[in-house]
Amino acid sequence: MIQVEHLTKKFDDVVAVNDISFVVKEGQSFGFLGPNGAGKTTTIRILTTLLPPTSGKARIAGLDVTKASDRVREKIGIIFQDPSLDERLTAYDNLYFHAALYRVPRREIRSRIDKALAMVELLTSRHKVVKTFSGGMKRRLEIARGFLHMPRVLFLDEPTIGLDPQTRKVIWEYINELKRDFGVTLFLTTHYMEEADDSDRVGIIHQGAIVSLDSPERLKRKMGGAQIVLPSKDENERKLKNLKIAFRTLNDHVYIDVADGSVRDTLNRMIGQSINLDEMIITQPTLEDVFIKLTGTAIREEAAGPMEHLRMVRRVRGKNR
Ligand SMILES: Nc1ncnc2c1ncn2[C@@H]1O[C@H](COP(=O)(O)OP(=O)(O)OP(=O)(O)O)[C@@H](O)[C@H]1O
Ligand SMILES: [Mg+2]
Repeated sequence: MIQVEHLTKKFDDVVAVNDISFVVKEGQSFGFLGPNGAGKTTTIRILTTLLPPTSGKARIAGLDVTKASDRVREKIGIIFQDPSLDERLTAYDNLYFHAALYRVPRREIRSRIDKALAMVELLTSRHKVVKTFSGGMKRRLEIARGFLHMPRVLFLDEPTIGLDPQTRKVIWEYINELKRDFGVTLFLTTHYMEEADDSDRVGIIHQGAIVSLDSPERLKRKMGGAQIVLPSKDENERKLKNLKIAFRTLNDHVYIDVADGSVRDTLNRMIGQSINLDEMIITQPTLEDVFIKLTGTAIREEAAGPMEHLRMVRRVRGKNR
């Protein structure tokens, strides 16, 4: 459904997208995971015909995005990173103008709008002005709009950015419903690990290039083993160096990759050097770890901070229990 071959976009001397290639099969979801400025939005803008590539090719449902842009637009829906609703209009009117723009047959407009609003649970707010909506309601309305003309492919650029975890969860339920019930192909970008985790395939993008591309499970399995995490104190780092145990330091923490089956041995050696293990955490690889290993940076600086890290650990532990 999406075919990208050697796509490159340069803005003067900035290479925003650097020779990327991938395919997304019909009915699958593809998550683009990467930090600020990685080139995610630029890729979406090219795939949705809003920006011409510098070189390379992209096709949606077999149609070239530069040569057949009008026909591509009929097949796609977009949920933009930045809010794009008309705040002065009601929810219903926002959707009405969209339906008219996409030439949804007039006699179908009303029922389609009602169905879309019901799906995102906004039917009772349909005649309220969008200005009065919460952030989560606005995002739900944007999703209803993105899907109103029944596109074959839905592009979602950071669909849940800035929303609380509860709302993020609800939004994902709607998005997954679209995939399950209508077989919509999803192309999404995110900073949130666990959102990418739900995609059929994940492309990790860093400085315009795809550094890894696989299912989330395979990406994590490639990492192998476990990780021991300690507070990054000088004392800890000195002792680890004495033991010749390799580690990385990031945001006040020391990360030690341990091969399968050698956690006990590594811990014993650390105890032998009287490293304080009171604040130690053992984790299994997450997509964040995959990202750090591949690029040497965290997806978001705060993502590897202690609190976020603990939250991540709890999630991982909860999953495996
Ligand atoms: N219109 C433009 N003119 C010049 N440079 C641009 C333009 N749009 C994007 N860039 C640059 O291209 C690079 C990629 O930007 P892009 O918006 O695609 O990143 P992103 O991965 O979507 O980031 P974020 O997570 O912050 O949304 C950045 O260095 C950005 O400054
Ligand atoms: Mg972006």
